[in-house]
Amino acid sequence: MRRIAVLTSGGDAPGMNAAIRAIVRGGADAGIEVFGARNGYSGLIAGDLAYLSRRDVGGIMQTGGTFLGSARCQAFHTVEGRQQAIGRLTALDIGAVVVIGGNGSQTGSQALFQMGVPVVGVASTIDNDLEGSDVTIGVDTAINVALEAIDRLRVTATSHRRAFLVETMGRSCGYVALMAGIAGGAEVVVIPEREVSPDQVAQELREAYDRGKRHALVVVAEGAHNNARKLVAHFEDHPDATGFRLRATILGHVQRGAAPTAADRLLATRLGQGAVRALLAGEQGVLVGVRHDQVVTTPLADIVGRQKPIDRHLFELAGIMAG
Ligand code: F6P
Repeated sequence: MRRIAVLTSGGDAPGMNAAIRAIVRGGADAGIEVFGARNGYSGLIAGDLAYLSRRDVGGIMQTGGTFLGSARCQAFHTVEGRQQAIGRLTALDIGAVVVIGGNGSQTGSQALFQMGVPVVGVASTIDNDLEGSDVTIGVDTAINVALEAIDRLRVTATSHRRAFLVETMGRSCGYVALMAGIAGGAEVVVIPEREVSPDQVAQELREAYDRGKRHALVVVAEGAHNNARKLVAHFEDHPDATGFRLRATILGHVQRGAAPTAADRLLATRLGQGAVRALLAGEQGVLVGVRHDQVVTTPLADIVGRQKPIDRHLFELAGIMAG
């Protein structure tokens, strides 16, 4: 294997640049030329690939986003799209592809692998919903951004004796909301894996108010049935339900663009180098992740289309701490 390609796909995640850097430098160290595909799978289909030297990836580790660009590529869902990508790889004599991304992106990896291309995935999504890795690149930064917002909102909540609803990203997974909620001392956490009804939320807030709290925070995941929009509508209909006056903040994409934390840079560097090591060892059709602090590989076939469950003890912990 003389040449490999790397691409970033799906939602950008802080640490993707560090992973690209690790793949380029890990590859160079093993005598492999690394080509970067621009804008995810679209770059493979269009043949938009460029050789990356060690110097090309200097000074990018500390930046959020992905300097290669990312996309959610519909054309790659088709056999024709993937065949076109394979043609581009063959023309450049590229023998393997490393895909840095989350669930949807690794479904693409598996589809490409099933068409005979050696592919290795690198677990990267702020949602942390991928099986095969205890944590994914970007989630630590996203939690820290949410936490900073929660800490600031608590200041204002305390000043005005208000309750704040904070909605985090996470698609159908409540991990970011739950972890930020625990670290931020939330009174209530609402996630898709453990729905809490508006009446229950109101009751928790009322009890907090009656206990004399000057602030209350509800952290809600965007994927929850009772998301921020639904809860706000409920409290507009029941303005006196909680004692507190209520405000809502939807964090959205601000969670994705931050500079990666040390944890994300380290994880990305380890997983990027792990992807090169896996290819050198002849592994393909696998996801590189971390389990019990060890870099491990898991067959893509075992992880695609699945969502990593949330540890229910963490949810219980959030409830106990809210007392
Ligand atoms: O998968 C990462 C993620 O940020 C999710 O948390 C969110 O639901 C989704 O991407 C948003 O996607 P887009 O950036 O395409 O709007």
